[in-house]
Amino acid sequence: MLTIESLTHLGMGRASDGRSLLPRVLPGEEVDVAQDGTLRIVTPSVDRVAAPCRHFKSCGGCAMQHANDAFVAAWKQDIVAKAVHARGLDTDFRDIATSPPTSRRRAKLSGRRTKKGAMVGFHTRASDTLVAVPDCQLLTPALIASFPALEALTVLACSRKGEIDLTVTEANTGPDVLVATDKELTPQLRVELAALANQFGLSRLVWNDEPVVMINPPAQDFGGTGVVPPPGAFLQATKHGEATLLSAVQEITVKAACVVDLFAGCGTFTLPLAKYAEVHAVEGEAAMLNALDRGWREGHQLRRVTTETRDLFRRPLEADELRHFDAAVIDPPRAGAEAQIATLAASEINTIAMVSCNPVTFARDAQTLVDAGFAMPWVQVVDQFRWSPHVEIVAAFTRK
Ligand SMILES: C[S@@+](CC[C@H](N)C(=O)[O-])C[C@H]1O[C@@H](n2cnc3c(N)ncnc32)[C@H](O)[C@@H]1O
Repeated sequence: MLTIESLTHLGMGRASDGRSLLPRVLPGEEVDVAQDGTLRIVTPSVDRVAAPCRHFKSCGGCAMQHANDAFVAAWKQDIVAKAVHARGLDTDFRDIATSPPTSRRRAKLSGRRTKKGAMVGFHTRASDTLVAVPDCQLLTPALIASFPALEALTVLACSRKGEIDLTVTEANTGPDVLVATDKELTPQLRVELAALANQFGLSRLVWNDEPVVMINPPAQDFGGTGVVPPPGAFLQATKHGEATLLSAVQEITVKAACVVDLFAGCGTFTLPLAKYAEVHAVEGEAAMLNALDRGWREGHQLRRVTTETRDLFRRPLEADELRHFDAAVIDPPRAGAEAQIATLAASEINTIAMVSCNPVTFARDAQTLVDAGFAMPWVQVVDQFRWSPHVEIVAAFTRK
C-alpha cells in the first residue's frame, strides 16, 4: 500500500515509496498498485468526486476530474504561489477565476478512418488509442455539434491507416476548421471539400497551409471589433478566460493614453484598449497583425492602432522606444519574455500588465521587474484550462 504525499505541477501523485508518480490520485489517499499496474484507491480523499464526464476514464483530454473544484482551484493557485515565493516575491492573490464546463471554444482533435466511416476524438492517456467524446464536458456545444462535420472530413482527408489532426475553433459564422494531413489535395478533393463545408455550415476550411473554402469569414469579437484570425492562430481558450484577463488588463492600464501591447497576437487586448487609448501592437507573426489591422480599419470609434512585426526575443523594444508609452501589456508564450522584460525594467514605463501561461517564467520575469523597482500589488490566476494542469496568470506591476 502506498500513500500519496503531494501532487506535481502536472497533477501526478508522489507516492510514499519515493519513486512512484501516479495519475488521478489525490494527496492523503492510500492506494494499491497491482503487478499489472492497475491502481486501486483504498482510502479516498474527501476531495475526490465522481468525474462529471462519462469519458474521463478512457479519455486523456482531462487530468483532474477526480477532484472537486475547490481542490483544483487551491492546487492551481498554490502552483503559482510557490513559483512566486521561490523568487522571494510577495503579493496578494485575488480569487481564482475558473471557466465553466463546456466553454472551451477551440480544440485540437484527432481523426481516423473506421470500418463504418470515421472517428474523431482525443487520445487516451499516454497512448495512441483514440476515444470518441460525444458528451465531452469541456468543449462548447458548438464544437461538439461540429463532430459530424469533422467525421465526414476525416473520411475525405485521412488515409486508411493514418491519423489526422483537426483544429476546430468556434466562430459566430460556423466552425473554423484546420486539417493537418499528408494526403494530397487534388482538384476532385477540393470540390468534395467545398460541398462538405457547405453541407455542414463550416465558416472556413484550411488544408495544411492552404485555405480551401471560406464561406463566411470566421470573425472573432475583440471588444466589439471583428477580426478574422489566420488559420490556427492563437486564441484565448475560453471566452470567459479572455474576458477575465481583459478586464484585469483594462483595470491596470486604465489611466494610460498610449499603450504598447507586446506579443499582441490578433488584438485580443489591443482592440478593446483602443476604445480609450492609442495602442501600438507588436507581434512576431505578420499574418496575425494583418488580421488585427484589418479589424481596426473596419472597427468603429477606435483610437489609433499601429502594428509592428518584430521578434521580441531577439529584438525587444528598447528603453528609448518605450518612452512613448504610458503603460505596457505583455503576454508572451511559455518561454516568457526575458529580453523584453529586461528592457521594460530599464525603461521609464511605470505600469505593466503581464499575462502568462507559465508560472516559472512568470516568476522569473516578475522578479526582474521587482528588482528594478516595480511593486507587484496583485496576481490573479485564471483557470481557463479547466480539469487540466495548465494555468493562466495576470498580474499588475507599478512603480512610482
Ligand atoms: C500567449 S499568445 C498571446 C497573444 C495575444 N496577446 C492574445 O491574448 O490573443 C503569445 C503571442 O506571442 C507571439 N510570439 C511568440 N514568439 C514571439 C516572438 N519571439 N516575438 C514576438 N511575438 C512572439 C505568438 O505569435 C502569439 O501571438
